[in-house]
Amino acid sequence: MALDESLIEELGIGPVWVRRGMVSVAPGEEERSAAVQVVQTAETPEPVETRQQPKPAEPPPPVAQPESDVPPLDAYDDLPWTDDLPVHAEAALVEAPDDVHTLDWDALAERVANCERCRLCERRTNTVFGVGDREADWMLIGEAPGENEDKQGEPFVGQAGKLLDNMLRALSLSRESNVYIANVIKCRPPGNRNPELDEVARCEPYLQRQVELVKPKVIVAMGRFAAQSLLKNEASIASMRARVHEYRGVPVIVTYHPAYLLRSLQDKSKAWADLCLARNTYREALAALGVEQGAEKGGL
Ligand code: URA
Repeated sequence: MALDESLIEELGIGPVWVRRGMVSVAPGEEERSAAVQVVQTAETPEPVETRQQPKPAEPPPPVAQPESDVPPLDAYDDLPWTDDLPVHAEAALVEAPDDVHTLDWDALAERVANCERCRLCERRTNTVFGVGDREADWMLIGEAPGENEDKQGEPFVGQAGKLLDNMLRALSLSRESNVYIANVIKCRPPGNRNPELDEVARCEPYLQRQVELVKPKVIVAMGRFAAQSLLKNEASIASMRARVHEYRGVPVIVTYHPAYLLRSLQDKSKAWADLCLARNTYREALAALGVEQGAEKGGL
């Protein structure tokens, strides 16, 4: 596949934007989160719990309780999803039946705008639902809103968004006409930290429903986090690129996150190759449906 150098040159390169929690990247490597290592030293004192303790007093004999249908309070203690949750989020989970897969666009947007399913609601300015053509053949999926997106309520509006728009333009695609763009997470993680697993789990039904409603012919997952969340794996970008994956019956192409490309210029040509693979996959999907070339909605 020929790389169109002039188009790649056109892609704007703005200020470097590095998410907190990510380490700098050596050429050829991909983004990754900083790991915290806990080192046990020889001087570490023995934990208090393992030292000799006085024998506890015998517990009093159990008192007979009246029969009841209501389980004791501590029966709920081992439910993992109640850990660390603000009380209102727990209440929302209990009260809101998971009917997200039945919602239409307006109801879904409203549900997201009022969502309190996880702690990210506490510090957001706006939810970031998604933008673009709700009947697009192309759907692009990123990670989570950053500061600018949180302020404006729209995905990819910062420098990374400009780069993304330029790359899309090179394929005759744009969020104004024939692409839908959404994130895995709809609220900004404070300080741009990586989203937690439970935050992903609670937000997932919204993205699933968006994919069901858009019915894209091809999905482009941008960045390791989005790709891992969609494909339910822990693979590296390098191993996921250059292959066609599947999410709920829709072909998925994995590529680098535009924010990563802003600081790793050497991988821009790979990202362009990924988009070309997405375009070919899209064409094949159309051909399989018997759509004639030239009659397609999106892309060259
Ligand atoms: N990064 C993302 O993954 N999504 C946005 O909307 C902005 C930055």
